[in-house]
Amino acid sequence: MPAEIICMANFKGGVGKSTTAVNVAACLARAGHRTLLADCDPQANSSEMFIPEEKIEHDFRSIVVGKIPTEKVIQSTRIEGLDVLPASFDLAVLDKELVVSAGGVFRIRKALAPVTETYDFVVLDTGPNLSHLTLGALAAAQHIVITVSAAVWSTRGLQKFLRWIEEHQEEDLIEARLLGLVATMVTPKTRIGRKLLDDMEASPLPTFRTWIPRRIRAEDAALDSRVAGDPEMDMSLSLSYQDLTVEVADRVAELERGRHAAS
Ligand SMILES: Nc1ncnc2c1ncn2[C@@H]1O[C@H](COP(=O)(O)OP(=O)(O)O)[C@@H](O)[C@H]1O
Ligand SMILES: [Mg+2]
Repeated sequence: MPAEIICMANFKGGVGKSTTAVNVAACLARAGHRTLLADCDPQANSSEMFIPEEKIEHDFRSIVVGKIPTEKVIQSTRIEGLDVLPASFDLAVLDKELVVSAGGVFRIRKALAPVTETYDFVVLDTGPNLSHLTLGALAAAQHIVITVSAAVWSTRGLQKFLRWIEEHQEEDLIEARLLGLVATMVTPKTRIGRKLLDDMEASPLPTFRTWIPRRIRAEDAALDSRVAGDPEMDMSLSLSYQDLTVEVADRVAELERGRHAAS
């Protein structure tokens, strides 16, 4: 069976997309799923959690423009079952190239096609803007996970972003459906933190029950390349990412069962 492809997205930066991508990917791998973390952000934050910058030679651009086989671009990581298709700043160039190339929006999907049978899950990380790369990543996915912080939850930007996704779904450029919104960097002791959790629970949008707490040690974890399941990782981040991953995998499995029942 081909991999389930999950795209982490938001129109803003600093909302925990990359942190969620690396931790969910790590938890999926540690739960025994063959997982590929594919980085579509030129900032390469999630790639560099597992691969030092100097070891990143190729990325999606090498596949699309350089005709390097996808398998050659993928690198293994210290976590068993977790591979990375890294990003580099070249992706900023690819973004412009996708605009002028025929079928540019489907180039990321095409680049992943040769390896989808190799993995159970592909987790795509995206940048903080509605670029062609982000659209290409969404067009390659079946599921969208949106990370939200209290600061973006009640903004018109989020509504517009959801509308932007819908418009592309209507045009059949995006087949992926919203798997759920997840609250990140939550401080439940503050009014704004509690409001975010209450609002999300009451929301008609699909939301995950698990929320990710704001932890001072999250930034150090990124610096030291620590992820959920590592012994030195902040325990509450570790546990919340493990819970979130169970919810993500359950929801994907439920959709899969629904698809089988319908066919
Ligand atoms: N739960 C958290 N608590 C505190 N800081 C966090 C948390 N999650 C992420 N961060 C930090 O916030 C910053 C932005 O997170 P990141 O995942 O890179 O967001 P994005 O990919 O959306 O730009 C990073 O410095 C990261 O280490
Ligand atoms: Mg990021």
